[in-house]
Amino acid sequence: MASKQMLHMNQGQEETSYARNSSAQGAEQNRMKPLIEAAIVDHLVTWKDGDCGLSCSSGPNAVALVSIALEATHRHFLQLRQPPPEVCILLNDLSYNDFNTVVKNLVPLRQINGERPTQVTGVVPGSFYERLFPSGSLHLVCSSNSLNWLSKAPEDLRINQIPAYDIDEHVRHERLAVVAGAYARQFRKDFTLLLQLRAKELAPEGRMVVSIPGRRCDQLINEISHIWGTVAQILAIMASEGVVDKAKFDSFYMPIYGPSQRELREIIQEEGSSSITEMRVHDLTSGMDSTFLTPNRVANSMRAALEPIINQHFGSSGEVMDEFVRTAEKHLSGQGSSHVNPVR
Ligand SMILES: C[S@@+](CC[C@H](N)C(=O)[O-])C[C@H]1O[C@@H](n2cnc3c(N)ncnc32)[C@H](O)[C@@H]1O
Repeated sequence: MASKQMLHMNQGQEETSYARNSSAQGAEQNRMKPLIEAAIVDHLVTWKDGDCGLSCSSGPNAVALVSIALEATHRHFLQLRQPPPEVCILLNDLSYNDFNTVVKNLVPLRQINGERPTQVTGVVPGSFYERLFPSGSLHLVCSSNSLNWLSKAPEDLRINQIPAYDIDEHVRHERLAVVAGAYARQFRKDFTLLLQLRAKELAPEGRMVVSIPGRRCDQLINEISHIWGTVAQILAIMASEGVVDKAKFDSFYMPIYGPSQRELREIIQEEGSSSITEMRVHDLTSGMDSTFLTPNRVANSMRAALEPIINQHFGSSGEVMDEFVRTAEKHLSGQGSSHVNPVR
């Protein structure tokens, strides 16, 4: 399992970086736009400062959600013929995130009007499963494509040496309920904690707008997440061809879970500190430019998001990841279409 300290997307601006391979996640952020705008307009009566993006990663997506929020705020105050409020924009991710690139993206967002700083910016490294911000300070919290990452993979699977994806199809089906149940319990624990922590940090009437890659099917007997299902199939091919070690594959537990809409509702209602204003479910590809959905683009976006965690576990190198991309392309092309679902 990757420790939370080592988890990050591919850094920098190179060909394999997250910055250059995250268009699918960017499309999801665009879909959040009306919800962020509505949260701002609803909440502006009490708005003073404090706008935070959880798990920003790096590249164009890092500041996209706060830019949407800032534009909506400015538009609203322009309509009211009032000066915009002072805003503090804070971006969070784990400490191994490429914050150097993020900080460069934040500079254009800083604004000083005469003596008055109207927009100040900062980064807050740390896990969203810990306290990150002062009590009662946040008016809007946004997060995209990230809260499906668990604090850790379920320990009972590792202790009992139950692989998350058994290469033997029969054994895999027999154990699916055990594996999916362990992941679902870990998600419930983590998401409950996240809600409790943010409830302490949100200002009264503060809002959260989050988007989580989940699954449509309610039943537990399903793959634990779309991303894991696809990645496990690719790594299983590589293990059976001897490119990665089979024993290592059996002990690889990706800390990712795709919850269903019902699970999310239940956890939010049971935790009790927040209420749901609106919940939308949509396909991963809706509204997406189909040129982002070729096997090659999807394989490269998987690499950008998962190379560090795969390398850390398998002790592999760039060459193994090149093979991962080749295997992924072949596997995705074999699914019967030149266009496939994105993975995040
Ligand atoms: C797929 S990226 C999404 C990045 C960006 N929000 C977007 O939509 O493009 C997932 C991000 O979640 C971050 N992440 C995962 N677990 C986290 C945690 N416990 N605390 C903070 N960030 C976390 C990862 O480091 C990564 O940058």
